[in-house]
Amino acid sequence: MKLNIAVLPGDGIGPEVTAQAVKVLKAIAMEFNHVFTFNYALVGASAIDKHGTALPQETIDICTKADAVLFGAIGKTAFDLDPDAKIRPEQGLLGIRKALGLHTNIRPIIAYDDLLSKSSLKVRQIKDTNILIYRELTGGIYFGDRSLSEDGNTASDVCTYHRFEIERIAHQAFKAAQSRKRKLALVDKANVLESSRLWRRVVLEIAPQYPDVKVNYLYIDNAAMELIIRPRQFDVILTENMFGDILSEEASVIVGSIGLLASASLGDEHAMFEPIHGAYTKAANKGIANPIASILSAAMLLDHFGLDEEAALVREGVDKSLKLHITTPDLNNKYDNISTTKVGDFIEDFINNPDETNLNFTNIHLGQSTII
Ligand code: IPM
Ligand code: MG
Repeated sequence: MKLNIAVLPGDGIGPEVTAQAVKVLKAIAMEFNHVFTFNYALVGASAIDKHGTALPQETIDICTKADAVLFGAIGKTAFDLDPDAKIRPEQGLLGIRKALGLHTNIRPIIAYDDLLSKSSLKVRQIKDTNILIYRELTGGIYFGDRSLSEDGNTASDVCTYHRFEIERIAHQAFKAAQSRKRKLALVDKANVLESSRLWRRVVLEIAPQYPDVKVNYLYIDNAAMELIIRPRQFDVILTENMFGDILSEEASVIVGSIGLLASASLGDEHAMFEPIHGAYTKAANKGIANPIASILSAAMLLDHFGLDEEAALVREGVDKSLKLHITTPDLNNKYDNISTTKVGDFIEDFINNPDETNLNFTNIHLGQSTII
């Protein structure tokens, strides 16, 4: 298969982790005789520094022409402390989601057996958790009108949803539930918000079309608690933009590190694959950022094109790295010298030589390999 992949490494740890995902995709292309080409473009603070905008037109063009986009992370500490900045790195990410019409964001939350002890939650609480969060990505309060009064003392952000925006993601979430444990939880704040009542009305209307799916309706405050206390009760979670942002980051506690969570952002014509974590500027260029979220996002890219065997091999490599503690410091308490690049090298090597008997593999296990 020929794929033209736009790569937007972005800021902070984005370039380091994305480089590992690209390395893994190149190994897959080599092993399976695919032709993947990679076109790089600027986004976020790195684009602001060069072009004065977080999303240059050239970046949009490269992404529009691509078959898929691999996204790193955006953000810069200087902007976090400057609420008056008119141009902000996040505009790059929100802008590309909007420009490509990426309305459906899918975030898998899987508790790996090998990492159960890394979570701050109890093992018996989180074991076997496997949730798919369907987060609406191009509507709601993220994209509503904003205002700040002239005296600077009053501000507003409007949360608007249209029926079609809810319907298109709801159908996808129901279909996903049908192929899993046939449970769907709609998370909203319908006791307070009119926009949430529209979500509830639309989902109540659609539900009879999927009689085999059991639907549960939760308020966001209650869902935030249930997710931590009894995560196994959830199968597919469907929710609007901001609730999905918050719930998915909360869910990373179950998995042990936010550095593990990947996502696919899908539209009618385009697809982007992005870790759910941010730029983590403090950790940039130290080799300590976990590349797994980015590598698993690359696996979701392969899924998207029906490259099942390829995606499975990437996931097997990730599983192996976790089992052997070839992991960055956010997860590792066994070896202290495993860098971002070493994790990527290990998974690349696994793809080239999945046979456990190969020498590199054994050496890696012992922490003695020259390639790590
Ligand atoms: C995410 C991020 C983004 C979001 C930020 C960086 C704009 O937190 O993808 O979860 O809020 O959507
Ligand atoms: Mg977030």
